[in-house]
Amino acid sequence: MFLSIKNLNKYFGNNHVLNNVSTDLKKGEVMSIIGPSGSGKSTFLKCINFLEYPTSGSVNLNGEYIGFNQNGKLMSENIIHKQRKKFGMVFQNFNLFWHINLIENIIEAPIRVLKIEKNKAISIAEDLLEKVGLIDKRFNFPKKLSGGQQQRGAIARALAMNPEVMLFDEPTSALDPETINEVLKVIEKLASDGMSMLIVTHEINFAKKISNRIMMLDEGKIVDDTDTDSFFSSTSNKRKFSFLNQGH
Ligand SMILES: Nc1ncnc2c1ncn2[C@@H]1O[C@H](COP(=O)(O)OP(=O)(O)OP(=O)(O)O)[C@@H](O)[C@H]1O
Ligand SMILES: [Mg+2]
Repeated sequence: MFLSIKNLNKYFGNNHVLNNVSTDLKKGEVMSIIGPSGSGKSTFLKCINFLEYPTSGSVNLNGEYIGFNQNGKLMSENIIHKQRKKFGMVFQNFNLFWHINLIENIIEAPIRVLKIEKNKAISIAEDLLEKVGLIDKRFNFPKKLSGGQQQRGAIARALAMNPEVMLFDEPTSALDPETINEVLKVIEKLASDGMSMLIVTHEINFAKKISNRIMMLDEGKIVDDTDTDSFFSSTSNKRKFSFLNQGH
């Protein structure tokens, strides 16, 4: 299995926020994660790349244990920091730097962290900006970009690190309705290009369209985790049924 997550638990104090969450993702698969507010969706994503340390469990990417070694022992911060680069993360609030223009935003980490030569980094960044439809905006500062453009820029920035998996946490929930689609289209294109992705979203129709699998969390527990067709065709689970019929 490409990404394998086993018995992930996370406590914040006495709050058991992730309760024995296990799932797998094949290479090139897209999994959407849905569930009510506070169900642990963001925490789940953050525990996969050890932005939050899980309390227990294991994460394995391509045969390599992430964060905890196979005996459950926490690895050094240095190693975890390196491993985190395998995961590209895009949050709800566009995380571009404000004091530099778009293309500088995209080449910054590849040059500083991956030690890629500047001209090479620029050429990679230009290809990515082409892909997300922002090549003509490459010299704009973020404040001169719309919310949707900033978010597409943030996606290009994450992709510039050449991640193995992309993690999206409600990438469209801070956007105006008119710009949601342009961001969803970029994500859809990534999916069709074969990028492995986990996407926390409230856009159920979008999830249905692009996901191979859907996982629903409630109070830190998996309510359902199955292929997209089965997820939507079986509604015998009351919790799932009521969530899906709430207009989410
Ligand atoms: N850093 C933290 N410290 C303490 N508690 C936290 C922290 N982060 C999250 N929690 C708690 O963990 C639970 C799950 O939060 P999480 O943000 O993962 O939910 P979510 O499903 O992403 O919700 P939403 O849909 O509102 O984004 C909540 O009870 C939240 O209050
Ligand atoms: Mg969240």
